[in-house]
Amino acid sequence: MREEILSLKNQAIAQISAAKSAEDLEELRIAYLGRSGKLTELFKRIKSVPSEEKKLVGVLINEAKNALTSLLSERKNSLKESARDWFDPTIPGIKPPRGHLHLVTHAIDEIANTFAQIGFVRVRYPEVEWDWFAFGGLNMPKDHPARDEWETFFVEGLNHPKFGEMVLTPQTSSGQLREMQRVKTPPIRMINIAKCYRRQIDVSHFPMFHQFEGLVIDEGISIAHLKGTLDYFARNFFGKERKTRLRPFHFQFTEPSFEVDITCGICEGKGCKVCKGGWLELGGAGMVHPVVLKNGGIDPSKYTGFAFGWGVERTYMMKSGLSIPDIRLLYSSGLQFLRQF
Ligand code: DAH
Repeated sequence: MREEILSLKNQAIAQISAAKSAEDLEELRIAYLGRSGKLTELFKRIKSVPSEEKKLVGVLINEAKNALTSLLSERKNSLKESARDWFDPTIPGIKPPRGHLHLVTHAIDEIANTFAQIGFVRVRYPEVEWDWFAFGGLNMPKDHPARDEWETFFVEGLNHPKFGEMVLTPQTSSGQLREMQRVKTPPIRMINIAKCYRRQIDVSHFPMFHQFEGLVIDEGISIAHLKGTLDYFARNFFGKERKTRLRPFHFQFTEPSFEVDITCGICEGKGCKVCKGGWLELGGAGMVHPVVLKNGGIDPSKYTGFAFGWGVERTYMMKSGLSIPDIRLLYSSGLQFLRQF
């Protein structure tokens, strides 16, 4: 019976290999493996095989069945392939959809490039930070009411013996102390652009937003350097005609402190409906407080410095003239909105 099995198998293989259509294949399947197919018939005859041969015959028939089954499905697939419509290489291809960078990524790149041209080095520091870097070391003691302005996220249960509680950075100013500790000996000229987190959400606030923080420390740094840097930024980022002004303000970590305004781009400082008086508010700045220098390990009797910290989203909207009615749209992942930019 052995020879019979092998020759049946070879015959089937030859026929299956030569089949030209799916229908032929199906016919062959029925002829060999169907309920009364040729191979199935052999199975039925195992009963009458002498018992010492039974096992071997069983194995051979099974092998034949497996070989034919897999050859049938292989052939079926390859017939499907070749039946496909023919390919016309002259038809123009379908372009895959092309993405682009997020509006805020563009803003960050532009801001970083503008400052890089006058020697500011972009740095990055932890977004999950100890209280001391975010507040305490910036001259804002634990119970100081000024802290209320920064509605901070605290990471529960984590406490540093020296640096206190763990927070999500509420402002990029934490990078000031980190940079002073890293560089140790001035000059320092950093631009820290990073995510900030505060417990606020409405049309103009989002719990995660971005700030950019400049810090310059060296011997003899004065308000004149601060003003010059801000004017440079105004001209190069917003346009040649733009100017800045410093308005007295208060921050714990700078003395004196200012709010920086920029001339309105629409009326060039004359006063119009948008700016109401010719000026638009950019953000905070000031001369680094001696206590902060000391906390950063820098001798305030030898070195002075200035700092500024503004919101990326706000600054970019002012530049582009985009008025986004709700800041939450920027981080909504809504493609219909994001595709516009
Ligand atoms: N960190 C302040 C805030 O988030 C902004 C700021 C003010 C940064 C004055 C500075 C500065 O570097 O000198 O509101």
